[in-house]
Amino acid sequence: MRIRILGSGAGGGFPQWNCNCANCRAVRAGAANFSRRTQSSLAVSANGRDWVLLNASPDLREQIAHAPELSPSSDDPVRASPIKAAVLTNGDVDHVAGLLNLREAQPLSVYGARRVLDVLAGNRIFDVLAKSVVEREELPLRAPVALKGAGVDLGLSVEAFPVPGKIALWLEDAMAADYGSKEGDTLGVKITETASGKSFFYVPGCANIDEDLAGRLRDAELVFFDGTLWHEYEMIEQGLLGKTGSRMGHVNMSGEDGSIKAFSKLNVARKIYVHINNSNPVLDADSKERGEANAAGWEIGEDGMEVAL
Ligand code: MLT
Ligand code: MN
Ligand code: ZN
Repeated sequence: MRIRILGSGAGGGFPQWNCNCANCRAVRAGAANFSRRTQSSLAVSANGRDWVLLNASPDLREQIAHAPELSPSSDDPVRASPIKAAVLTNGDVDHVAGLLNLREAQPLSVYGARRVLDVLAGNRIFDVLAKSVVEREELPLRAPVALKGAGVDLGLSVEAFPVPGKIALWLEDAMAADYGSKEGDTLGVKITETASGKSFFYVPGCANIDEDLAGRLRDAELVFFDGTLWHEYEMIEQGLLGKTGSRMGHVNMSGEDGSIKAFSKLNVARKIYVHINNSNPVLDADSKERGEANAAGWEIGEDGMEVAL
C-alpha cells in the first residue's frame, strides 16, 4: 500500500493568502527552514494505479500536478483518471471544496458520513459532479466497507468512526448547543489493505483524544493526526484570530491534554502530523517546538511525503 501526503497544511494552507504572521512571512521570503504546504489531503493506493483521495482540498488541481500517478498515463483512453474515489472526513472547506475539481463527467465514488453527504446534496454547486456518473456512498460508522469506484475494486477497506469535534465552520449555528454538531460531523478513518491486512489511521481533525479513540489507535503501525496548533492560545497570541484550539475543534500538540502526551502511552510505531496551521511553531524546522515533537517520535508531514506499508 502506498500513501502520499498531497497537502499537509490546515485550512488556508501555508502561506495563507491573507496572513502576514512570522511563519507566513518567512516561507514567502523563501527561508530554508520552512516549506510551503497545500491544504489537507492524502492519497492512498493498494496497487499503485488506482487511487483514493482522503479528503479533497481546494488545492487538489495543484496537488495532482505534483503527483504524476494521479494523472492519466499516455496509453489511457482520451478521458481517464487514476482517482477512483474520495473519502471525506468532514464538511470543512479544506476537505470538500476540491471535489469541484473532479467535475467533467468522470466516474468516481464519493464516500462520506450521512451528515456530510446531505450537505453536499443541499448545495447545488456540487451537482457539477453529475449524479449519473459520481456515486455518493454513505460511510457507516464503526463498520468496515470495501472501497470501490468507477467499477474498480480498490483492494482497500475503510472503517469510519466518530471522533470528538464539531460541525464544519461554515455550517455552525451560533444559537444551537455545540454549534449544531452531531455524530458523523467529524470522522477518523482506518484504511486497511485487503490483501496484506496492513492498516493505518487518518484523523486530520480531532478535538480531544478520548478513551474510544485511544483504544483504536493503541499499537497502530501508522497514524496521520491533527497537527493544527502547538498550543491553545497561539492564534490569539499572534493576533490572528480570537479563537482557541478547542473552539476550533482541534486538540493541541503540547500541554497536559495535548496529543504528544496522549500518544506517549499508545505505542504507535509511526506518527505523522498533518493539517498543520500556518501559526504552528513546528513549521520552523529550527524551532524548539519542532525539536520537542521530533524527540517525542513525531514526524511533521510535508507535501509529497510518501509512506509504503
Ligand atoms: C478547520 O479545520 O478548523 C477548518 O478547516 C477551518 C476552516 O474551514 O477554515
Ligand atoms: Mn480544516
Ligand atoms: Zn500566517
